[in-house]
Amino acid sequence: MARGIRYFLSVTLKLLAVMLASVLMIVVTRTATFPSYQTSPPACEESDDDFIPADKERLARFTSAIQLQTVSYERGVGTPQELVKFSQFIQESFPTIHGSPMVRRDVVGNYSLLYRVEGSDASLQPYMLASHLDVVPVAEEAKWVAPPFSGELKDGYIYGRGTIDAKHSLMGSLEALQFLLSRGHQPKRTLYLAFGHDEETQGHFGAKVISEVLTQRGEKIKFILDEGTPVGDGLLPGVSKPVAFIGVAEKGFMTLHLEVNEEGGHASMPKPESAIGILSKAISKLENNPHPNMFGTGVEARMLEYVATEMTLPYRMLSSNLWLFSPLVAWVYSKKPQTNAMARTTTALTRFNAGVKDNVISPEAVAVIDHRIHPMSSVEEVMEFDLKVINDPRVNVKVKNSRPPAPISPYGKDSPTYMMLQETIQQIYPDALVTPTFMVATTDTGHYWNLSNAIYRFSPYVMTPSDLARLHGVNERISVKDYERVMNFYYHLIVNMDKPLETKRHGHEDEL
Ligand SMILES: *[C@@H]1O[C@H](CO)[C@@H](O)[C@H](O)[C@H]1NC(C)=O
Ligand SMILES: *[C@@H]1O[C@H](CO)[C@@H](O)[C@H](O)[C@H]1NC(C)=O
Repeated sequence: MARGIRYFLSVTLKLLAVMLASVLMIVVTRTATFPSYQTSPPACEESDDDFIPADKERLARFTSAIQLQTVSYERGVGTPQELVKFSQFIQESFPTIHGSPMVRRDVVGNYSLLYRVEGSDASLQPYMLASHLDVVPVAEEAKWVAPPFSGELKDGYIYGRGTIDAKHSLMGSLEALQFLLSRGHQPKRTLYLAFGHDEETQGHFGAKVISEVLTQRGEKIKFILDEGTPVGDGLLPGVSKPVAFIGVAEKGFMTLHLEVNEEGGHASMPKPESAIGILSKAISKLENNPHPNMFGTGVEARMLEYVATEMTLPYRMLSSNLWLFSPLVAWVYSKKPQTNAMARTTTALTRFNAGVKDNVISPEAVAVIDHRIHPMSSVEEVMEFDLKVINDPRVNVKVKNSRPPAPISPYGKDSPTYMMLQETIQQIYPDALVTPTFMVATTDTGHYWNLSNAIYRFSPYVMTPSDLARLHGVNERISVKDYERVMNFYYHLIVNMDKPLETKRHGHEDEL
């Protein structure tokens, strides 16, 4: 009997050892042989004869753009006079564009701008570069080291609201186009520049109308590049090089209105449960039961795999073996708000209102929940989950506003437009790695889904962890070097779009 058990144990242990050894071998092999997704196209150099320098005139134009206070406050409430001034300023500042017979300019939805630059080859599908004219309001003005609408230059940085969201993209793409046209170049492929005027309040009157205009024209767009994720420096653990993130998808959102109506009455004779108490319990349940961690199901996992070969050893091992380590990474991601937002549908309680008087039981309590929906989930799934968690028919749940997660655009080696974008980024940021991601915030692209199935979100500037708070926050700024890169990025993008999409790009031997 004892012999039998010993035999059984020894066989089991041996089996376990063999299994562990095999797993270890797979992990080691994959870590050593994982493919690289990076490219190294010829870099854009200052000595190139088609390099766009951030000279005095270009910087002055950018500063003037920052000085226009094109603030969007809330849906339908903006700064019309400033938008009109911005529009006029753009017309005066880029005479080559506005005087060109190839360029058609339309004012859309009263303030948004849509440019069409006619390509010489009508058989090629147009593409679109998007950005926006408006900015978010300024808070805590006293904390700014330069006034927020000054565009002041300080220690190599231009300060001001809109410098990275997203007047750099807007002005940078116009500078690139003006430079190109002034060299007598006509693009082969038709391109659009689309500048919405209320992106910061969801684009209902700008991008939405731009999309309608293009739909009416029957336009199908090859690909769209809008503002988006930046070049992160120190944002991804385990990678020492900067990492350019291309947003190939975008989280959805759902704003829920929760309401409880109970009998009110005098505070001296309360019932066991009040409207406030019932709603508090519901909200507490929602906060204590986060939506499922979805790390490993989508783009957020590919994001790590695309840079795996460039990571330091432990991270490299994890990222090239997500088949095994996904649950571990998922757990790590859930620990910090920034990474947690990549792993799941988030739940934020944004409003809670109840009560009118100290000694009156409130008959009503209302709350608002802001969900950001993971690309692999859906509006319906989120709603179903919430109702199950709340599990109380006295809580009335209504959808105030929602948008499903964006369709995922093609990415990777099989997508010529993604690869063209990747290589263009690496021409401008030769040290940077490029990887796909999804955005946790929204952009105007939410209105463009029907125009193109290849929608990308990327903002050419370097962001360090300490810069994160500048976006929509205090001391928003861009370095002069980065603004120069923005202009050259769009220039190279336009040039690269005229080459056959499947082949190697750039090479300064091609005369323009
Ligand atoms: C444009 O302006 C007119 C007049 O001010 C207004 O009636 C109309 O609603 C506006 N249209 C859009 C799309 O904002
Ligand atoms: C796309 O087209 C469909 C059908 O016409 C429409 O219902 C939907 O709202 C459109 N989506 C966007 C984002 O414009």
